[in-house]
Amino acid sequence: MVINMKVLYAILSALLSLILSFTSSLGEGADHMIKPTDAKNIRMCFATASDTHITDSSVRYTQLKQGLADMTYDTDIVDAVVFAGDLTDHGEKAQFDYLFEAFDEACKTENIILATGNHDTWSDDGSVAGMKYFVDGYNALTGRNIEKPYYTTVVNGYTFITLASEGDHVYATISQEQIDWFDAEMTKASLSGLPIFVVCHFPINGTNGQAELWDEGGIGEQSDAINAILLKHSNVFYISGHLHAGFTGGLIDAGPDYTIESNGSVHYINLPCFTYLNTEAGNPLSGCGYVFEVYDDYVLLRSRDYVMTGWLDLHDARIDLVTAQAAS
Ligand SMILES: [Fe+2]
Repeated sequence: MVINMKVLYAILSALLSLILSFTSSLGEGADHMIKPTDAKNIRMCFATASDTHITDSSVRYTQLKQGLADMTYDTDIVDAVVFAGDLTDHGEKAQFDYLFEAFDEACKTENIILATGNHDTWSDDGSVAGMKYFVDGYNALTGRNIEKPYYTTVVNGYTFITLASEGDHVYATISQEQIDWFDAEMTKASLSGLPIFVVCHFPINGTNGQAELWDEGGIGEQSDAINAILLKHSNVFYISGHLHAGFTGGLIDAGPDYTIESNGSVHYINLPCFTYLNTEAGNPLSGCGYVFEVYDDYVLLRSRDYVMTGWLDLHDARIDLVTAQAAS
């Protein structure tokens, strides 16, 4: 029998991570629910995940519902949920219906921020139909009235800008209209002086280990244009998925830290795949993401296994915000 060493490594690593997850959670006592580290001073908290790849599988559906239940167990604590694309596996209407049914049943916060990914525009009915299934389903779920898959959401005064591919390639197709809109939304958001959160399925070309992990895994031809807009501003968090890479930070044997890349003011955060084992890099656990705790002067990224309802701790990071004076 031939043993696939990569698969064996992934299984052993997953078991180890599960043990670590349990032990770190047990250290906090019986209450495994999301609680902020500084409840008195927190300004906003949101839970992130990516790449749910919903099909007609009841296993994936149940896993997503378990994750959403953990994320929004206490809506006085978690203000929003953010998913960074590949919501469905193939952009079919039935898959979007199943996705939104899971959110309707298990997600208790009204602040639901969903980006689409390449898989969401791969509908057999065409990319335009895939985008429409998303927009119509999202509006029905949230009671909002977005017109395009790219849109802005404000939560507790903080701006989230969601970008979307308008094509059906593995990379993103972003129209000039969307780029101009993004530029204007970023400028508007920056007036508050607060951090800005940009949610886009695709990592900026060459960031988060994309070049090493997956040649064609970048955002594509509009990468420079999008990145130039990000770099005009301070305290920007660009949240992506797509690479199916596990958390790398905090692991001794994981090589470079691909998960968080930063120039000190713009921070590129790449989330692991929620549904599949993350065998490309880092911690292979599925069902995970970062819980963001936003404070006046810093943002905590806390790695969590939403399905097992435990903190992973190993991959946590604190990102200090730059002041207007320091940025000028
Ligand atoms: Fe994906």
